[in-house]
Amino acid sequence: MDYKRMPIEIESPEQLGYDNVKYNLTESSISDTVFNSIKLDINELKLCYGDHLGKPELRELIANGNANISQDNILITAGAASAVFIVATTLLEKEDHLIVIRPNYASNIETPRAIGCEISYSDVHFESNFEISVADIRSKIKANTKLISVTHPHNPTGMVIPKDTLMQLAELAAKNNCYLLVDETYRELSRSEIYPIAASLHPSMITVCSVSKAYGLPGIRIGWLITQDDTLFEKFLAAKEQIFLCNSVIDEEIAFQYLLKKDHYFNSIKDHVLKNHTVLLDWIKIETRMEMIFPQGGVVCFPRIVNGENIHMKKFYTLLNSKYQTFVGPGHWFEMPAHYMRIGFGWPSNAELTQGLKNISECLREV
Ligand SMILES: Cc1ncc(COP(=O)(O)O)c(C=O)c1O
Repeated sequence: MDYKRMPIEIESPEQLGYDNVKYNLTESSISDTVFNSIKLDINELKLCYGDHLGKPELRELIANGNANISQDNILITAGAASAVFIVATTLLEKEDHLIVIRPNYASNIETPRAIGCEISYSDVHFESNFEISVADIRSKIKANTKLISVTHPHNPTGMVIPKDTLMQLAELAAKNNCYLLVDETYRELSRSEIYPIAASLHPSMITVCSVSKAYGLPGIRIGWLITQDDTLFEKFLAAKEQIFLCNSVIDEEIAFQYLLKKDHYFNSIKDHVLKNHTVLLDWIKIETRMEMIFPQGGVVCFPRIVNGENIHMKKFYTLLNSKYQTFVGPGHWFEMPAHYMRIGFGWPSNAELTQGLKNISECLREV
């Protein structure tokens, strides 16, 4: 494996130091939950090795209400990040081929690169509303294709895949003897219909998800992997056991207790996201120097500066960071031109988002 650090991680606010980032519009999650707000007593928790699949009650909660899957199909992982890693390293070897949507959450591309397998990119474009093209993906299938990889709702654009398109992709994967990875870390942050868990919809779909984005619990590193395929599940479990055996029992307990009362927390989360979404839309309506495809899910969008090719983008970002203390996810985090930027609107408070967007406008006036 040829590991390389990714710009999105090197330049992340947690690596820069949160205190150095006043208006943080880089995040792809809602704001971080404070432990005390969960009111959890874990003093009697035994710090033993946990169940290798993950705390059974937690797995049961995740599976609850979805057809075709039970807790036996769910493997708890260390965040969605390790789930993505386990899927890639289980299914892909050097001589295999992957089709992946680009731009994307960096690891969905970088881990296959580290493996050294053959990669075809299915690019989504601003001009086509960042929509996925089944025809393009179909045209890229090869005899050695092992995996088709999508993120849904999409990071960094917030686009939602119509359900029949998702099912067409699943059928395409099944017909070609490969799997469809659906990284649905933002599933519950869809502003229209929330689909059932992808892995429950079709045997060729693999779900990756976590508590990081929708619940603001990235610090407990709890995610999961779901497949209906028992043989594949066994391989995922073997990979997990070789990497970290089991999860932290403290993390699992926190996730379990939180998800038990999920509806209670989620109402105010949805409320906050909706309010900030309105701030974003109000801003873009009057900010004529930027254009945006409206995000349908998640808490990120991927606008671009109109005629941005003619703007000194290095100057723009330097000014935005230093003078305005405002940070966004610059295009290069997603291998896109610098005049594209990811704006995270779920993490900041309403006032911070309002000011951060205003700062982008001010900064644009200066370059
Ligand atoms: C699409 C997607 N998948 C996976 C992850 C990893 O998240 P975590 O490991 O915190 O669950 C992220 C984080 O940004 C993401 O955006």
